[in-house]
Amino acid sequence: MSLAVPAVHARLLRVDPVALDPAAVGEAAAVVIRGGLVALPTETVYGLGANARDPGAVRRIFAAKGRPPDNPLICHVADAGGLELLARNVPPLAAELAARWWPGPLTLVVDAAPWVPQVVTGGLSTVAVRVPAHPVALAVLSAAGLPVAAPSANRSGRPSPTTAAHVVDDLGAEVDLVLDAGPCSVGVESTVVDARGDIPLILRPGAVSAEDLGVGTGQVVPGSAASPGTRYRHYAPACAVEIALPREGAARAAALAAEGRRVRLVAPGDAAELARTLYASFRSAEAEHADVVVVEAVEEHGLGRAVMERVRRAARG
Ligand code: TXA
Ligand code: MG
Repeated sequence: MSLAVPAVHARLLRVDPVALDPAAVGEAAAVVIRGGLVALPTETVYGLGANARDPGAVRRIFAAKGRPPDNPLICHVADAGGLELLARNVPPLAAELAARWWPGPLTLVVDAAPWVPQVVTGGLSTVAVRVPAHPVALAVLSAAGLPVAAPSANRSGRPSPTTAAHVVDDLGAEVDLVLDAGPCSVGVESTVVDARGDIPLILRPGAVSAEDLGVGTGQVVPGSAASPGTRYRHYAPACAVEIALPREGAARAAALAAEGRRVRLVAPGDAAELARTLYASFRSAEAEHADVVVVEAVEEHGLGRAVMERVRRAARG
């Protein structure tokens, strides 16, 4: 929830994604190295990062977010060499997917190397790894020279943050440094894929779609051990979320308004726009004390499937 006077203890540094202020990047890397928490922009959503080798630092992530300890974190690395470091062995499928999609919004789940702390993997024998496609995240990862465990930088149960202001609203008091590189270009979280077998098994849909991966769309059964995050209710909005058919959102919103309900309409041009704006719309709707958010559906293929999965979860409340 946005506070009227946010408890801002975090240092907020604006970093131009092209000019890449080396002082800000160096400061972020130093905070990670000494066991602190840094909020970092990625192409999907902002992440709350800590040194993945340092169990104490990683525990601070769970405490800051109020995250259940059995929900494992994604390790962010600067390049595919980080996969070799974190994996017990790199399966051929993982090597192939990394070569094709990294840097990018694809997270690979592989067997974890013995050194990977249990607090990172939530006690699983596997570890999730990704190379984010964001110049600021990549610069910090290279400068720190270590894997950075980072969940989305929201308080547990809130929409993922797509701007630095969202991070400050949720975690301003807990995080040591926030790097602000403007809004995220994708806006929904990465695709999580189990890459241990012969074909990619999608555990969480994202911007790299089933079509992109050339596989069916069957999801892992929610609550299964393979996909701990699906056990948790993600985002329970303070207002109702209603899904309208394409091009019927405005009429539905008008009908609800005529009944005296305070309505926010989300009527995107396409799936990419919905992905970019969805979480910010949820946060604005709550700040405006809307009764209901009407989200116009987009076609469910490609990125559309991932973003509609997030909308349906929110609509379930
Ligand atoms: O785009 C993203 O993935 C963002 C940015 C910051 O990289 N991160 C993100 O992290 O969304 P988080 O913690 O909010 O979601 C990570 C998901 C959870 O559903 C978690 O259960 C799953 O990845 N996960 C992590 N490690 C896993 C593992 N070893 N096996 C299966 N699922 C895993
Ligand atoms: Mg999350």
